[in-house]
Amino acid sequence: MKRYYITTPIYYVNSVPHIGTALTTIVADACARFQKRRGLEVYFLTGTDENAPKVHRVAQEKGIPTQQFVDQMAEEFERTWRALHIEYDVFIRTTEERHKRTATEVFRRLREQGDIYEGRYEGWYCVSCETFFALNKVSEERTCPDCGKPLEYRDEPCYYFRLSAYEDRLRQHILNNPHFIEPEVRRNETLGFMAEGLQDVAVSRSGTDWGIPVPDDTSGAVIYVWFDALLNYLTATDWLNRGEAYLDTWPPDLQLMGKDILPRFHATIWPAMLMALGVPLPERLYGHGWWIVNKQKMSKSLGNVYAPLEVAQSLSESAGCELPYAVDAFRYYMLREMPTDSDAEFSLQGFETRYNGDLANDLGNLVHRTLSMMHRYFGGRVPDGARVDDTLAHLFVQQATRTAEAYEAVDFPRGLTEAWAIISAVNRYYDEQAPWSLHKQGQTERAGQVLYAGLEAIRILSALIEPAMPQVAREIARQLNLETVPDWSTTSQISVIPAGHTLQEPKPIFPRLQTKPSAQTTPKPAEPQPTPKPTSSDNLITIDEFKRLKIRVGTVRSAEPIPNTNKLLKLTVDLGNETRTIVAGIAETYQPSDLVGRQVVVLANLQPATLRGVVSEGMLLAVDVAGKAILLSPEQSVLDGTTVR
Ligand code: MSP
Repeated sequence: MKRYYITTPIYYVNSVPHIGTALTTIVADACARFQKRRGLEVYFLTGTDENAPKVHRVAQEKGIPTQQFVDQMAEEFERTWRALHIEYDVFIRTTEERHKRTATEVFRRLREQGDIYEGRYEGWYCVSCETFFALNKVSEERTCPDCGKPLEYRDEPCYYFRLSAYEDRLRQHILNNPHFIEPEVRRNETLGFMAEGLQDVAVSRSGTDWGIPVPDDTSGAVIYVWFDALLNYLTATDWLNRGEAYLDTWPPDLQLMGKDILPRFHATIWPAMLMALGVPLPERLYGHGWWIVNKQKMSKSLGNVYAPLEVAQSLSESAGCELPYAVDAFRYYMLREMPTDSDAEFSLQGFETRYNGDLANDLGNLVHRTLSMMHRYFGGRVPDGARVDDTLAHLFVQQATRTAEAYEAVDFPRGLTEAWAIISAVNRYYDEQAPWSLHKQGQTERAGQVLYAGLEAIRILSALIEPAMPQVAREIARQLNLETVPDWSTTSQISVIPAGHTLQEPKPIFPRLQTKPSAQTTPKPAEPQPTPKPTSSDNLITIDEFKRLKIRVGTVRSAEPIPNTNKLLKLTVDLGNETRTIVAGIAETYQPSDLVGRQVVVLANLQPATLRGVVSEGMLLAVDVAGKAILLSPEQSVLDGTTVR
């Protein structure tokens, strides 16, 4: 059977990986993992583009021999991708001999058959984009129409590729194959780009010794870096040496890239080169949008370029989340916020919000509370006769199918939203069914049924999230005591975990990230100030100040004394869509058993504080009667999470 061949662009090694290159690579990895989980044999290529003049230039500026520089940089890319859990099958480098042989042979064949011919190039070149621009395409400022950087003038003999000869065939192919270029917006961009007509393109450069030499050329010209780079995809199948056998991998099923390198290169020059060679075209080219930061393009000069591993490392330190899970959280953010059609804003704040909301509160909390209750009520053993209610079972299967459809369409924001609908459904189900109350009332069998639905949801979720968060998926599977992350096919089966199956102890995966004091509230060392005299208005607050307090109703799910104190109890309080640990000084008035199941009023946006080694994530409101606390509670039972105002 043919392998599912998926590629990223090969990255220029003039700078280290950043969130832009990480995006394409993580999206590709998620697609590759998804297809693997569905049972396909996958061949996933990434690599580095090393023959570019801009790479040579940076090496020279650094005073390092270029080959040594590209070796170091390629290693840096591989190290970063491995640390980001990228499971590629081949890492190709364009300075490898096998690639040089492919590029040389293709050049020779196309020249022999007349698709490459000799001429002269007079025009402009953008070193940053490694692109030629004809004289009439450049404005007075002599800046690059794509990136805005200054252009260099070139007037030299060169070889041309007869791109114009393939224009009609290519347009027909694009029109006949609606999935050839995706998403739709890129297809339209490409057709728009082609509407101006495709000119023959220069495919050699003079005046440099860095690059693959043009075969049988005495002038010392090298092959234009894009012509050489695009061929990497073919090199990696060993097309040159394997006769028809390369078709076990070729053509690529999915070629991923950013929107900038689609119309001009991957959707035009590339298929035309393949047509000229008589090699089948890729099935699908997908061009995603760009990350922008503070509404601007990332650039070193603006200082807004983020390194992926630093972002993950910093989350791991501030949240206390193990590094592999912080890396997965970063992958999740990349995919959940992925720019598909348009560009998208990357921000650390956005990342933290997704982490606390989607990962700590939703996914992490569902896993933890489900396994905790299974242990507390059933000793960690799946009870006999449990099965998932039909409505919920139907919803799980439907959401898994929708997730698959979206992943197939490279629409990870939609796919992950579909998967998360399972989490919301189970949380709602828990609220309605209240397994803790069922258990308390002795309805143990029913409590088991309800929690079993949660377990099954988690089993399915571990499969659905694996493409995005492979290590987290594995950890969830471990806590469920499954040998591996379940295959995709098992997401359409329900009530799979058998009675009697034992579960591992729950272990939090995503500790909540505590909000850091902002610069304004951080105390600054200062000269002692004279204490202002109180006036009557100092005791009044405005309605806006009051509105800053987030006061919510919640239900106490568990309560236990804190050892070696007379006053403190540790409570778990359910606030509807999240559970908080709260340390309350109420032990003199209440026994822990009086509290479980009772509704309380919580100040929910108080800065967390550590009391006797326990992080308290809020405060219960109580009346102080001679130093003893009498708890406030709503006069009628209300939904957990309801606001007090
Ligand atoms: N070497 C060429 C590709 C040759 S493939 C035969 C190249 N390399 S690159 O390193 O400049 O960029 C590679 C990819 O990173 C492109 O897909 C590009 O769109 C992506 N990104 C670079 N910056 C980006 C953002 N700010 N946001 C998202 N992706 C962007 O081009």
